Amino acid sequence: MKKNNAQRILMVTSECFPLIKTGGLADVAGALPLALKAAGAETRVFLPGFPDVMKATAGAKRICKLGTIAGGPAQLLSYVSKAGLDVIILDAPELFDISGNPYLDEKSQDRADNHLRYAIFARLAADIALGKLIDWQADVVHCHDWQAGLTPAYLKAETGTAPKTIFTIHNLAFQGLFPKDIFNGLGLPDCYFAADGVEYWDQVSYMKSGIMFSDWITTVSPTYASEIQTDEGGMGFGGLLASRGHTLSGIINGIDTDIWNPETDPVCVKGYSSKKLSDKAVTKKALQQKQGLRAAPKAPVFCVISRLTTQKGLDLLAGAVDHIVHLGGQLIVLGSGDKTIEDAFLAAAKRHPTEVSVTIGYDEQLAHMLQAGSDANFIPSRFEPCGLTQLCALRYGTLPIVGRVGGLSDTIIDTNAAAMQAGVATGVQFFPINQTTLAHAIDQTFDLYAAPRIWNKIIRNGMKQDVSWAAPAAEYLKLYKSV
Ligand code: ADP
Ligand code: GLC
Repeated sequence: MKKNNAQRILMVTSECFPLIKTGGLADVAGALPLALKAAGAETRVFLPGFPDVMKATAGAKRICKLGTIAGGPAQLLSYVSKAGLDVIILDAPELFDISGNPYLDEKSQDRADNHLRYAIFARLAADIALGKLIDWQADVVHCHDWQAGLTPAYLKAETGTAPKTIFTIHNLAFQGLFPKDIFNGLGLPDCYFAADGVEYWDQVSYMKSGIMFSDWITTVSPTYASEIQTDEGGMGFGGLLASRGHTLSGIINGIDTDIWNPETDPVCVKGYSSKKLSDKAVTKKALQQKQGLRAAPKAPVFCVISRLTTQKGLDLLAGAVDHIVHLGGQLIVLGSGDKTIEDAFLAAAKRHPTEVSVTIGYDEQLAHMLQAGSDANFIPSRFEPCGLTQLCALRYGTLPIVGRVGGLSDTIIDTNAAAMQAGVATGVQFFPINQTTLAHAIDQTFDLYAAPRIWNKIIRNGMKQDVSWAAPAAEYLKLYKSV
């Protein structure tokens, strides 16, 4: 059946940009397959048919009729995007025709039927990989996060030969935990409900399934790979991950450098590059105007583009807004999440209407404009598996101010004395993550901003970094071969 020597990779993911996105997982699942394809692999992405996906892929072709699933009709569809992304969609309206967030209900609680939704999705992923459903089968199945965590278990339970599995942890905080009585409905061998299986404190964890049954585990940065093998960073899985340390590695994410390109980005009033940095100011002016801020070319504009959660340390930043304004800076926040953090930022915008602008919601275009028009970008995370916004910031000459954790510590070179002397710094890091160290990082950023030559050197260093998928994709290909 296999026509050439290209490796066949099946990506199993619940999100994929531009079809559906709640966070960085979508960016990874949308860009990595294209980079793998450019490097010679044959990659297909298996994705649930959420309403956004169905809308964006109208005209997709049926490749398999599945009969009845969860009491309704179901089929597999095939869709190839203009960019060349090859997607297999699970069109099962009883499971996936749900409005709003794919994982949470209107009350921001986990959807009560998530266990069923992602078990069926994972089972079908295994069947596709095995060649049981369509005229294609995978050499390697690359599963992402708990939503795909059961696929390695289903493949491990196969009696014949099955493709190898890689399980990537994007965020250990989301563990796919369900009451133990759902186990019987999963169709896994009884012995899999055990300490060396999917059982976790007398519950079922789909994340643990991925960790236990995959042939190799990756996470999205080397530092996070170390952090999750400790009690502090392991969120209950530290010991288990440490015991699998010999089959666990960290591969840093890239970004799609065609989508994130300040020279061609349509949000830039004037495209710019490290050679024509002064043109960034034109978009800064337009941004201040658009967000209703005081026209102030010399005021540093800080931005946030993020889920507003304690993971991201944004409760701390909300407590530092007055300090930023007092020093003469402006802040633009884009995001949504914890109500208390949203409210704290909204209250700050009320106190400083000409200096602080807050947009609660999700806005792809504004996210681009913030990267292009701001001077600095806050990512004060308490933990961060990789982080993509700091990579976009580097590319857009927007200085990242980051907590020294996870992927943030791997991708940003702090402006400490040694790095400044060597001329290699790309951003401001702080640690430990608290109000005092954040305030210090803010003061430090103002000092750097007051010295334009130094500032420009730092952001030029950032713009020179290779943040594309080329190197990470090569690492994944090596890994696929080695398993
Ligand atoms: P996480 O996946 O933990 O949320 P990442 O930094 O890996 O964090 O990825 C976040 C992605 O989502 C980035 O592409 C960022 O630009 C985007 N993003 C986050 N919040 C918003 C928002 N409110 N509007 C538009 N894009 C957003
Ligand atoms: C998760 C992490 C983030 C990472 C993203 C993509 O959402 O929180 O740090 O960049 O996945 O891997």
